[in-house]
Amino acid sequence: MKPRIVLLPGDGVGPEVIGAARLVLEHIGESAGHRLTFDEYPVGGASIESHGVPLTDLTLEACRGADGILLGAVGGPRWESLSPRLRPEQGLLKLRKELELYANLRPVRVTGGAVAGSPFKAGHCDGVDFIVVRELTGGLYFGLPRFREAVNGITRAVDTMEYTDTEIARVVRLAFTLAAGRKGKVTSVDKANVLETSRLWREVATRTAGEFPGAILEHMLVDSAAMRLVTNPKQFDVIVTENMFGDILTDEAGVLVGSLGMLPSASLGEGGPGLYEPVHGSAPDIAGRGVANPVGAILSAAMMLRHSLGMPEEAGIVERGVERALAAGNATADLGGRLSTAAMTDAILESILTLKGV
Ligand code: IPM
Ligand code: MG
Repeated sequence: MKPRIVLLPGDGVGPEVIGAARLVLEHIGESAGHRLTFDEYPVGGASIESHGVPLTDLTLEACRGADGILLGAVGGPRWESLSPRLRPEQGLLKLRKELELYANLRPVRVTGGAVAGSPFKAGHCDGVDFIVVRELTGGLYFGLPRFREAVNGITRAVDTMEYTDTEIARVVRLAFTLAAGRKGKVTSVDKANVLETSRLWREVATRTAGEFPGAILEHMLVDSAAMRLVTNPKQFDVIVTENMFGDILTDEAGVLVGSLGMLPSASLGEGGPGLYEPVHGSAPDIAGRGVANPVGAILSAAMMLRHSLGMPEEAGIVERGVERALAAGNATADLGGRLSTAAMTDAILESILTLKGV
């Protein structure tokens, strides 16, 4: 097997964490007898600098032909004043849309003890283990019309929140399929007391639940979900929600695991390659200093091994390797430690090595 992986390091700390994830993939691929091949392409601000647009056709075609895509992060202050269609973020959004990656899986697991700097009491988050399934190609992010206009001295801006029953059903179905391999509980998050799209969401979620006898469906309003996520995070198993709510709730979930730098994600569609990326952004404040936490990117690579490369055992080894390295006290600055990205990666590689020796 010779899986082709496209690397899209992107901006800010992206190249640093993708470099770390690549090392882990090379190592794990070699020891499993698979020659992983890597091709690197620009995306986001990096692509704007070299090609004038945040996503070139060449990058897009390379992604279409890949077995898996690993992305770092996009965006940064340098490109903030560009016109909306030319911003780095558009590169990522176009990629998600073009590859029809409608489901974004963001697992949140707390395995170790208290993290220095965590706002929670010790023990509050121990045992948290849920996954957020965020709809990724619909809702406010893509709805039309979207514009800004000035009429009689008043400037008005419009975004549109739109969902079809088909879009809702496929992502809810995926959430139930995941729940079947877990505790069997799906929490569908919406704002059905106000939004029409949410009322449709709730109806379709209820109907879709009928296809999964034995599974439990609960509905929760997004404001209440935001509160419960911090007051009682252990109650969740699978959360399924629309694009924007999922974006917000998963940053919040980053606090539970101690740092947003820890969270991985997988964006999946119907067939086609998956796109894997840490949930954290480009972190321009620490970019280029070699101190970014590589865990989110490394765990994203593990998700790629599992969901796109057919290497679930290797995925498990990487995940346990990360767990052990953290449990042994290895930590980057965001976790209250002093390790550089390289030193943290070495610690993870070392613990992967001992695991494979077992
Ligand atoms: C994320 C990010 C992106 C999003 C940005 C960079 C467009 O915040 O993946 O969560 O909003 O989806
Ligand atoms: Mg986000």
